Amino acid sequence: MCGIIGYVGRKKALPIILDGLQRLEYRGYDSAGVALVNGGSLEVFKKAGKVSELVSLIGDSGGPPSGATLGIGHTRWATHGEPNDQNAHPHWDCGKEIALIHNGIIENYSSLKRKLEADGHSIRTVTDTEVLVHLIEEMVKHSDDLFTAVRKALLEVEGAYGILVVSTREPDKIIAARKGSPLVIGVGKDEHLIASDASALVDHTRHVVYMEDGEVVCLTAGSFLTKTVHDEEIIKEVEEITFSLAQIEKGGFEHFMLKEIHEQPESIRNSLRGRLQAGQGTAKLGGLEPVLDRVLNARRIIITACGTSWHAALAGKYMLEQLARIPVEVDYASEFRYRNPIVNPDDVVFLISQSGETADTLAALREAKAKGATVVGIVNVVGSTIARETDAGVYIHAGPEIGVASTKAFTSQIAVLSLITLLLARHRGLSMEQGRILAADLASIPSKVTDVLRSSAHIRSIAEEFKHVSNFLYLGRGSNFPTALEGALKLKEISYIHAEGYPAAEMKHGPIALIDEDMPVVFVVPKDAIYDKVVSNMQEVRARKGRIIAIANEDDTDIGELAEYVIRVPRTYNYFGPIVNSIPLQLLAYHMAVARHCDVDQPRNLAKSVTVE
Ligand code: AGP
Repeated sequence: MCGIIGYVGRKKALPIILDGLQRLEYRGYDSAGVALVNGGSLEVFKKAGKVSELVSLIGDSGGPPSGATLGIGHTRWATHGEPNDQNAHPHWDCGKEIALIHNGIIENYSSLKRKLEADGHSIRTVTDTEVLVHLIEEMVKHSDDLFTAVRKALLEVEGAYGILVVSTREPDKIIAARKGSPLVIGVGKDEHLIASDASALVDHTRHVVYMEDGEVVCLTAGSFLTKTVHDEEIIKEVEEITFSLAQIEKGGFEHFMLKEIHEQPESIRNSLRGRLQAGQGTAKLGGLEPVLDRVLNARRIIITACGTSWHAALAGKYMLEQLARIPVEVDYASEFRYRNPIVNPDDVVFLISQSGETADTLAALREAKAKGATVVGIVNVVGSTIARETDAGVYIHAGPEIGVASTKAFTSQIAVLSLITLLLARHRGLSMEQGRILAADLASIPSKVTDVLRSSAHIRSIAEEFKHVSNFLYLGRGSNFPTALEGALKLKEISYIHAEGYPAAEMKHGPIALIDEDMPVVFVVPKDAIYDKVVSNMQEVRARKGRIIAIANEDDTDIGELAEYVIRVPRTYNYFGPIVNSIPLQLLAYHMAVARHCDVDQPRNLAKSVTVE
């Protein structure tokens, strides 16, 4: 959460920073700001609201007087202090010589603030961030340079941070530091950039350096020097960005979310490509090979994640237990880390994360590792922290996901879990013949998804019908219980309609009290082994006048008698079903949000990557 960008080079910094902020806006959009260093002066512009508000502010002010070639910019997801102009970053010191932007939380800011105020600092905002810039100001008094002062200040800080610091006294430098919040350096010709993620850099360079926790870097136009906070020098490896500019643009779609929904036939194909071995009825996953024996002999698998990734984890439990016959537990990462979980060296912990930066999932990873378990990542963003800290891992290869509501990452996560299941199951007794049937089903999923996407107009008409309701219930059973949970999350995230996902049969143990003629109920009801049971649950809703929308198979001729609306999906093997069956739920949430004039790609209060606890 919060997007950070800095530039030092020969070009004008402001347009580069504003463009970068626009690319990073999905990380937070409560306020935005820039600081430019122009020789001996600091020019700061900041404004509550989206980056467009900042651009207007700068335009209305006639623009900055300078053509500064060094600057930093920030787009905020508020933690401490409401999202107003004053609390927007950058923050500066008493003398307005040092400016700082920050992503994270300074946990001991109250005690630092008391001390600094006692020392005469005048702290203007209630943010944790402003305290840090005054602490650096204090350290500058006792240090040779800004680089040293920042390192010394950070030794007194508890919490998480990705920071950029500039000073009018050293106007050719950006100092950056990372602990818990990601930062990537872009290496150009006579210029350096630094940002929260590579999407803000790809316009300028494909050469990047990923910063690690505990590192501090000094960037100038022609050099970068990396040290630990304890002053040891580190040699960093320059890596190549793996995605293209086109992948992070809207490509003619009205919203990133819609583009990403429509990309799913391709993104799922990419997840399976080169891995699914249809002829042998198995999968080959190079990233899993170093730990394959440990996974096959695991006492149990624990899968931990947050949000949508947690729903994918739950879908994984159903298939892994059924087919590979390994006990699987699924845990919210935020719960896992704080309950001193019983984890043994013969357990394998899978971490699922689109961004690879989610603070709770990262903390769960470290907890599991500290307890001696083997840790395996299922991650989308290449080079992200979770991907780098796990013992082994499988990238989902969904491509950059910009829409705050996760769509293509979810289906690719389940596609990868399906591959892992197939691989483990074949090692643990599933016959080649059975494996071939499953592999063929998996291979057919991208074209089934294409079929479902053709229902978009029909789903939009359903959304029009229901756009004024206040509540929704999503019900599914077995492997489609996670589908129901994900459908409900998508709706509440982007349309602000209260929605709950439930196992269909659990409805009669409580939620049935909610059913009346105003309650729409979405049933995920494919023709599987428990179809008849779900149909009984539908009867119970209908008897109480609930309005039913059914996600049902194309050859289900009876369902129309029970449901007011039917959205058709092709038949898919039970455990892989959530991939196909979640597509209409993504479209329903999308069309509902558009019909309600909600901001689809930047829903209120949310941010794409949750890097604070
Ligand atoms: C999904 O629509 C959400 N934005 C959110 O639940 C997300 O899945 C969660 O924050 C986990 O993110 P991650 O996959 O990047 O770890």
